[in-house]
Amino acid sequence: MNVTQLIDTANALMIDGKGLLAMDESNPTCNKRFAALGIAQTAENRRAYRNLIVTTPGLGDFISGAILFDETMRQQTNAGISFVEALKKAGIIPGIKVDMGAKDMAGFPGEKVTEGLDGLRSRLAEYAAMGAKFAKWRAVITIGEGIPTQACIDGNMHALARYAALCQEAGLVPIVEPEVLMDGSHMLELCLAATEKAQHALFDQLYQMRVDLRGVILKPNMVLPGKGCAHQDNVDRVADATVGCLLQHVPAILPGVAFLSGGQSAELASQRLSAMNVRFKGRMPWALTFSYSRAIQQPALELWKGQPANITLAQRALHHRAACNSAARRGLYNAAMEKQLV
Ligand code: 13P
Repeated sequence: MNVTQLIDTANALMIDGKGLLAMDESNPTCNKRFAALGIAQTAENRRAYRNLIVTTPGLGDFISGAILFDETMRQQTNAGISFVEALKKAGIIPGIKVDMGAKDMAGFPGEKVTEGLDGLRSRLAEYAAMGAKFAKWRAVITIGEGIPTQACIDGNMHALARYAALCQEAGLVPIVEPEVLMDGSHMLELCLAATEKAQHALFDQLYQMRVDLRGVILKPNMVLPGKGCAHQDNVDRVADATVGCLLQHVPAILPGVAFLSGGQSAELASQRLSAMNVRFKGRMPWALTFSYSRAIQQPALELWKGQPANITLAQRALHHRAACNSAARRGLYNAAMEKQLV
């Protein structure tokens, strides 16, 4: 394991003013998003859409790294080069989603456990040879009647830590993603309790598995009320609960934290990230940035609609959201930026 290389990659991903773009939707998830907009669910359309994203002019000014799905990793851009090469040309570090998805957890109705450890060592070696510099694994924690259970949290965090150890062995920086879902009508306090348990268990497991935290990035959920909760807390309350939780559970040696958006609106995801960077400026030991999928891509996807004629418009929308989140990462986002889309 080359620790210096891991630390360099992690620091490059967390560079000031930039964040990550998650464009690693699995085929079923990507198809679901396409279907909602009447876009045909084909490998070629998925390729064309990813081509649109990767060739957006100036994207590398705001995006340090992009996470790909296996299918995209093996496809080529319109220019006939691999997506890995196209990202590198754009100044963006290529990464890969390596988990095999969250599956129903046996004996625990309503809960999921993420699969993908079997054969992971050889898959990581292949991705590293193809040019990936980092990887991602997502665990899903659901809030509901009597859940999450400690068994679900422990099972998922154990898998995340074993994945992280294998990544570092292969020279890839592991992004560890314990996602407490927004689904439900619970209050923010319940999300806070579940997020605390998950982060606590995760760092316990990472320690046990001898993972070098200098070469790890945490991708957490923000601490939010459920989507269906009648009381929606304001931006400052979300910022304080989220960073308070991180300060309590995330070791200072970690290079950075990059949030998932989880179904928040694009504007709220920018507002909340910005508020955290304003309110805790100079008081956080790690970089605090984004690793959004929907909150960066959704407006662009809705404009594209699978039509070549809409590509330029969609790319402008993508560039705009990347710029908004780059500002948020520095605590400089404001609502006026939403009117600056040219
Ligand atoms: P969202 O930002 O849409 O939650 O996606 C982030 C991600 O990578 C989920 O694994």
